[in-house]
Amino acid sequence: MPEPVERNLGLDLVRVTETAAMGAARWLGRGDKEAADQAAVDGMRLHLSTLDIDGVVVIGEGEKDSAPMLFNGELVGSGSGLVVDVAVDPVDGTTLTAAGIPGAIAVIAIAEGRGTMYAPGRLVYMDKIAVGPEAAGSIDLEAPVEHNLKQVAKAKRKDVNDLRVLILDRPRNEKYINDVRAAGARISLIRDGDVAGAIATAQNETAADILMGIGGSPEAVLAASALLCMGGEQQCRLWPRDETEEAYAREEGLDLDQVLTASDMVASDNVFFAATGVTGGEYLRSVEFRGDTVVTHSVIMRSKTGSIRYMDAYHDLARLRKISATTLD
Ligand code: FBP
Repeated sequence: MPEPVERNLGLDLVRVTETAAMGAARWLGRGDKEAADQAAVDGMRLHLSTLDIDGVVVIGEGEKDSAPMLFNGELVGSGSGLVVDVAVDPVDGTTLTAAGIPGAIAVIAIAEGRGTMYAPGRLVYMDKIAVGPEAAGSIDLEAPVEHNLKQVAKAKRKDVNDLRVLILDRPRNEKYINDVRAAGARISLIRDGDVAGAIATAQNETAADILMGIGGSPEAVLAASALLCMGGEQQCRLWPRDETEEAYAREEGLDLDQVLTASDMVASDNVFFAATGVTGGEYLRSVEFRGDTVVTHSVIMRSKTGSIRYMDAYHDLARLRKISATTLD
């Protein structure tokens, strides 16, 4: 007998990212990334507490000392319901938001089971490669860039010089940029926001083929959650910046040589992911303020079923203000 239809928690999660995005978008272009982030954190917390989950934040705003809210280890949700690990990035792209530049999104993922999400500790960076479903099975983080490009091109029935590779525009990614150029593929350098970048490789609507390069570790866990839902592939390895971080990794038992797949990073067969556009971009449109109405554009995904929903929501600003002045003023 088929199992009874389960509730899709993603439909509750999207309220969390909508509220975060609306809060952050109020700070669009105002040059204050901390305020944008704080507004998003406030918005997230408002709705997280209403979720019927017994959750612990594994990927949050950092250690408790530096993050009073949504810190790593914080218990969230009603305390009953599904036992989950939680990853949040109230705004992936705070600098983009402060500058009013496209590419920022509010993101949350939850994975059923305790201890299912990878905790990179204080190691902030990982070396990453990510592709969408068509090219899943054809990447290898340990292989040369040219090899990966050829394999992905073959899987997608394209020429290497038609591929578009997304790379975070950072000096540490110079070798990637040079190697991709030498192989003849095209590049879009992204200023920030590699969660949206990883997702873009799995989207038919965007012409991105691969994400490569060194970016944030927390973002890698969030991207893994989305790619598990979308059927893409991601491989990552911790990238310590110096000897202190190497020593820290040894003390904490973090393996610096291990190549982690998406399911190593999120070891659950029941993953929910939601994101809402903050500043707009290739992936999700920006929050729009239209008089008394605020319009948000979101995506909701679930790994078990592979469902991907896009949701536009029209929020009544006057009524929302009655509920929370902090997120929208
Ligand atoms: P913030 O929202 O914290 O600014 O992070 C944005 C981001 O670009 C991530 O998408 C990316 O993984 C990370 O920063 C890269 O880190 P850094 O800016 O230190 O190179």
